[in-house]
Amino acid sequence: MKNSPSPSRFSMKVTETTQAQALGFFVNQDEKRAPVPATGLPGIADPMLKGSPFKGAAKTNLFLRSTSDEPHVLFIGVGQKKELTPETFRLAGSAAYSKVQTEGAESFAISFDELVKAAGSKAADACLEAFLQGYGMTSYKFDKYKSDKKDPKVLKIEVVASGELKKRAAAALNRAAIQMDSIQIVRDFSNEPSNFGTPEYYASEIQKICRTHGLKCRVLNEAAAKKEKMDLFLSVGNGSKRESQVVIVTYEPKVKAKKTIAFAGKGVTFDTGGISLKPGARMEDMKHDMTGAATLFGATLAAARLGCKNRIVTILGFTENMPSSTATTPSSVVTARNGKTVEIINTDAEGRLVLGDVLDLCCDEKPDLVVDVATLTGACGIALGKFCSALFVNNDKLLKHFQAAEEKTAERLWQLPLWDEYFDDMKSATADMMNISSDGTGGTIRGAIFLKQFVRKGTDWAHIDIANRASDNPVVPYHPRKGASGVYTRFLTELAMDFE
Ligand code: BES
Ligand code: MN
Ligand code: ZN
Repeated sequence: MKNSPSPSRFSMKVTETTQAQALGFFVNQDEKRAPVPATGLPGIADPMLKGSPFKGAAKTNLFLRSTSDEPHVLFIGVGQKKELTPETFRLAGSAAYSKVQTEGAESFAISFDELVKAAGSKAADACLEAFLQGYGMTSYKFDKYKSDKKDPKVLKIEVVASGELKKRAAAALNRAAIQMDSIQIVRDFSNEPSNFGTPEYYASEIQKICRTHGLKCRVLNEAAAKKEKMDLFLSVGNGSKRESQVVIVTYEPKVKAKKTIAFAGKGVTFDTGGISLKPGARMEDMKHDMTGAATLFGATLAAARLGCKNRIVTILGFTENMPSSTATTPSSVVTARNGKTVEIINTDAEGRLVLGDVLDLCCDEKPDLVVDVATLTGACGIALGKFCSALFVNNDKLLKHFQAAEEKTAERLWQLPLWDEYFDDMKSATADMMNISSDGTGGTIRGAIFLKQFVRKGTDWAHIDIANRASDNPVVPYHPRKGASGVYTRFLTELAMDFE
């Protein structure tokens, strides 16, 4: 049982008719009437809304409990047609799951024909996919270490569709299922307790999953990383008896790749701070410090399964940051893979040491774009709060790709500056640079400007600091109240799919 993945809490299928215990009806605010029940669903809904104050505003719903053999009915508000986006449906799917689950129904059906009416035919496929994502993401629970699993029930969702709409519904369902599988992996990885979630654990889990899906996966142990001259990365794990691992996942499209994308992930399996030890309060949250790596693996897997046209090389640095007599001491000078020397002033600024070498290794692939993702700085939450994470790019031309992915997924990023002046007081008297600034200001930017020193000239690069949203981000209804959110998995999947 230990370390087996947590079971999926929902299942999906496309059907022509349904016996589901609860039926969902989309209600458009501008039509001022109940929806016309479409093919496959019993014609019970229409009269129910007569005289009801429920008008179908977005983010509202109305559950009517059946006391007979008839199914329960959930009216799902989607607001005005001209204002609705996939996110409207993602939130609706999330609310539907919560409602249907608390009401104790075990199966739920919606009609795609009717969704087409509510959203318009052009938007319908993306809206169905989003609805299923919202439903699926909300069903997640991490209870593999509970001896008494209170609610292991699977909540079925059926998509009723007729004629040619059946194919479209099945395709949207398939896309949602692939993404939900990845989000489940990302959340499970991130939530894994630090005594089980070691560098070797993630390396072997990733290898297994890669084998299942035909992805190439190579693992460098410490000796191999040493041969690769990754001393900056290795310096982080010096205090841990658990062996650091570099995991390299490669996806090659079936036909000649359009572009190469390299992903670089911070995978610190537990961050005590090292000799610059963190205070005890909430230190347990630092089991999530490998979420950047988990997120990029999840996105790589989803993009591969969705038939991405780009080649993806994903390099993940897994290591544990511990204090001990062999741990790196402040004032240590270490030579990075790219030849630059770093004076380590604070061993708690370790993510940038991991990524410095991983980014250099990524550059060997001559990628058209490198993106690193990391829970890099606590300052990120001070600057941005909970509703977006930080984005840095070394070429503003890249922004359009990020904006497109943001629009599709409603996972928001906000750009911060990368001006070289921010590096001025990170220069070291002893080595080429220090791993923190002298004055302690602008923490998130300092992390980014440090990483910039490891990106080869001419390489397009983006850095995403997700420290403020990777875990405990309940401001989004489809994120769990506690623990890993899985945020940016969908974003990075879309980025990889659409980059050209
Ligand atoms: N893993 C932390 C950042 C972090 C903090 C992630 C809170 C999630 C929640 C990172 O390694 C770290 O310790 N950063 C230091 C940097 C400082 C020493 C310059 C920080 O933010 O305090
Ligand atoms: Mn740290
Ligand atoms: Zn860290």
